[in-house]
Amino acid sequence: MPREIITLQAGQCGNQIGAKFWEQLCLEHGLSPDGTLRDDLPTNASDRKDVFFYQSDDTRYIPRALLIDLEPRVISGILNSPYARMYNPENIYSGGDGSGAGNIWASGYHAGEQLTDELMDMLDREADGSDSLEGFMLMHSIAGGTGSGLGSFLLERLSDRYPKKVMQTYSVFPATSQVSEVVVQPYNSLLALKRLTQHADAVTVLDNAALSRLAADSLRVQSPTFDQTNQLVATVMSSSTTTLRYPGYMHNDLVSILASLVPTPRCHYLMTAYTPFTADSVDQAKSVRKTTVLDVMRRLLQPKNRMVSTQQSADSCFISILNIIQGEADPTDVHKSLLRIRERGLASFIPWGPASIQVALSKKSPYLQSSNRVSGLMLANHTSIASLFKRILDQYDRLRKRNAFLEPYRKQPMFAEGLEEFDDAREVVADLINEYRLAETVDYLA
Ligand code: GTP
Repeated sequence: MPREIITLQAGQCGNQIGAKFWEQLCLEHGLSPDGTLRDDLPTNASDRKDVFFYQSDDTRYIPRALLIDLEPRVISGILNSPYARMYNPENIYSGGDGSGAGNIWASGYHAGEQLTDELMDMLDREADGSDSLEGFMLMHSIAGGTGSGLGSFLLERLSDRYPKKVMQTYSVFPATSQVSEVVVQPYNSLLALKRLTQHADAVTVLDNAALSRLAADSLRVQSPTFDQTNQLVATVMSSSTTTLRYPGYMHNDLVSILASLVPTPRCHYLMTAYTPFTADSVDQAKSVRKTTVLDVMRRLLQPKNRMVSTQQSADSCFISILNIIQGEADPTDVHKSLLRIRERGLASFIPWGPASIQVALSKKSPYLQSSNRVSGLMLANHTSIASLFKRILDQYDRLRKRNAFLEPYRKQPMFAEGLEEFDDAREVVADLINEYRLAETVDYLA
């Protein structure tokens, strides 16, 4: 029985990433942009399309996807693309005017409250359409108003309504090392972080600084477009779901993937690395000469290949690692590579758990031509992720000390009476940072 997953894409970033993800899944499952099976391809893919798609009466494959935005531009773009016919029109909510949530978390959250019935109807209908729903995947950014605020609202409602289902997110963090694009970004990020901490089972953290650096490096362009960086995100999302879509004997549902990565519930923030980005996944990417299993595994451990930039300290370490290796990988090569990595001490682990890299060997889509023999995705739980939260907290403290830019928040019901919600979110994030610090110590579980 398939374990179905419903995706939700909220806001500009969420919808742009989502659109790329679905394009990638169409390629991998041999589907035309309108969801029909391509008749120029053989049909024996031994894949499980029904995890992410269902079949309509006219046998087209329809994404189990909800597209939500408070302003119409991005969704109109999707609906004017060749993929328009693939989506279920009943699953689209696109706000009428051009303003969106104006980069204010509180506006996005409040819009969610006002749209509760409509959004929950969409969700319930989609959930009822699956046999054995495993969970939800939310794609969004945490810096703006819609993905962050309305995304937070959705997280709260979903965990309340579907407490037993897995909630995973792909959350784009702002490029905090650079000047904020949005001045209230630290407010929005902090408020969203509280929900990600309390209501998600796993958060895949992507940050725009790292994504741009990686895209620039692999494409050799100075300032990559969102289209290019989003292709990297789509590659990560598709690779991290290959074991669900091309099942083997292990890691064939979300729970089993996450169980090995998240040993304690609060430390559920994951970083990713992928290698090699070649022209197969990113147009014009430079070619990489050698792709042995050892080479792939070694590259996955290099911070420069990570899709999030964190500050490592002397104590920071891995809580867990799962490498998903695709392509022609021999289990003996995998075993040898793991030994070599251990001998060289290439990855340091927490002192209270098994210090091992787990490996899932996964099939590749038969429809994708690939110039590299092996490729790999690392999903890792690393304590240095807390440095990202610390940065957001520090930026928040600076802004809040001056009580800057609070007016638009006070206009929304949650903040009309006072600003306690900010204080509460600050406490949740401070506790989270502390939890990661404790996880670096030997008596964390004591
Ligand atoms: P409102 O515009 O306030 O309605 O909210 P929104 O959720 O639509 O905002 P948006 O998604 O644009 O969030 C802003 C943040 O997302 C900034 O940090 C942008 O750099 C980032 N962002 C926007 N679009 C993309 C995208 O397509 N890809 C990536 N990686 N980041 C994006």
